[in-house]
Amino acid sequence: MTDRIVEIDVTDWQAVPTRREWVDALEAGKVLYFPRLGFRLSEQEQGFLRPDIREPKTRNISLNVDGSIKGAVGDAGTQQALAAMVARFRTCADALVAGLLPSYGGALRSAPTSYRPMQVETRAQSWRADDKRLHVDAFPSRPTHGERILRVFTNVNPDGAPRVWRVGESFEAVAERFLPRAKPYSAWQAKVLNALHVTKSLRGEYDHLMLQLHDGMKADMAYQKSCDQMTMPFPPGTSWVCFSDQATHAVMSGQYMMEQTYHLKAGHEVDPASSPLQILSRMKGRPLAEPA
Ligand code: SIN
Ligand code: FE
Repeated sequence: MTDRIVEIDVTDWQAVPTRREWVDALEAGKVLYFPRLGFRLSEQEQGFLRPDIREPKTRNISLNVDGSIKGAVGDAGTQQALAAMVARFRTCADALVAGLLPSYGGALRSAPTSYRPMQVETRAQSWRADDKRLHVDAFPSRPTHGERILRVFTNVNPDGAPRVWRVGESFEAVAERFLPRAKPYSAWQAKVLNALHVTKSLRGEYDHLMLQLHDGMKADMAYQKSCDQMTMPFPPGTSWVCFSDQATHAVMSGQYMMEQTYHLKAGHEVDPASSPLQILSRMKGRPLAEPA
């Protein structure tokens, strides 16, 4: 199980080399772990490490691609300084991804960057939104149509608290178990959800099945307890990267983390056959239905 984590000993965001074995590991759904790659905060920024910096109703503070900040309280000066902190993390994550994954190049696009000041252990959530349960990332409102979800995380906790994850079995193993139980895709249902603006675009069969895996895993408490898994504490001052739509993960505890999401166009992996889209297509024995 420990082979689900691959350690990379670099200390400089701007000087991350690439290696075929790391890219292969990432595309196999493993987590790349950088135990000596931290994100340093200034004294003023340390002051932002408090949960009430976040607007009460939002989950995270996020920096949009256009540079605007969302979800934070405080005067204009505070908001500006917060935006600068999150933007600096984005620059670090961009450099890491450019160094580590040069072949993705123009097929990669940035999503918003988040700063997560909430304590994980005390967060109350419905079972479906509960990331303390092992899952692969899949979002009900935002179909990806096979575009990948690549994420860079760093723990900035000032009190030594690790971000504790569980990392579960391979995507293939998850799909073998939960695909047979998945409800079949319904094109008319997808149309209704889109007309009601539940989804931002028409949900195709890929996104339907990914959600079925996400929900299937989270709803099955026996699976949560007994599946092959390991606990992985990420201490402050460390970073990690994974395809979160493929690496099965859960977060058990921790507070104060930075996160950058990227989307990789479908089929632009070094080995597209390793992607959830192609794994699910192979298991179904046909291409998945995408709305025209
Ligand atoms: C998740 O994607 O499940 C959340 C990860 C985290 O908050 O550490
Ligand atoms: Fe997740």
